[in-house]
Amino acid sequence: MPTKIAAGNWKMNGQQTDISELQLISKAADQLDCRTIICPPTTLLGNATKFCNEIFIGGQDCHPKPSGAYTGDISANMLADMGASYVIVGHSERRTYHGENSTIVKAKAEAAIAADLKPIICVGEKLQQRESGDAIEAVSLQIKGSIPTNSEIILAYEPIWAIGTGVIPSFKEICQMHDAIRALLTKNYGSSGQKISILYGGSVKPSNAAEIFSATNVNGALVGGASLKSADFIPIMRALAKS
Ligand code: PGA
Repeated sequence: MPTKIAAGNWKMNGQQTDISELQLISKAADQLDCRTIICPPTTLLGNATKFCNEIFIGGQDCHPKPSGAYTGDISANMLADMGASYVIVGHSERRTYHGENSTIVKAKAEAAIAADLKPIICVGEKLQQRESGDAIEAVSLQIKGSIPTNSEIILAYEPIWAIGTGVIPSFKEICQMHDAIRALLTKNYGSSGQKISILYGGSVKPSNAAEIFSATNVNGALVGGASLKSADFIPIMRALAKS
């Protein structure tokens, strides 16, 4: 069975004082039968790993190279050195604002694995692709281009039009997409593909989490806005643990 994962992506949010929110999330995670991962901004990694022992910490991006003259970038080794265990790669905000294509995303995922981090590889279709009936094809192409040969990965399906908008796909659309992703991962990795956690992301809230988690091939969530406050994120973790 894939591990149930509640992952929070804090994006470019959070100051040192917000570690107290993380501590509340960490305390709640101790009681629950699911894995909690928070990916805070790099500036909070040190205190997050120091003060929040019941959760796993991840980065939000890494460079494909282990070191070098890349001003402003951070490598997977550096994240591991800070105590991180995971790293998000290929988030749609990186693909859109930093021009990252699937070839770059795959190189980043490989760099993460080489540094003993588990990559959370994000894929998702644009609204236009959803409306023209091409969502599954678009996501399948992204997956084929972005996943490394090593199956030690987490896949996050995040329809771009659902991120931060409050709009989510229908339950049927979520099921269809996650079933298609499972079939593709199984084709690619054999039985290991059946153990990969497939997360749904895009406007997950305490009010819709239980329904989303009831889909067979949804093994958790990658949560943006609702992961910033423990009062929002803990109910999502609880819904997952109960699912
Ligand atoms: P959201 O973001 O939950 O705020 O929609 C999800 C994400 O971008 O990972």
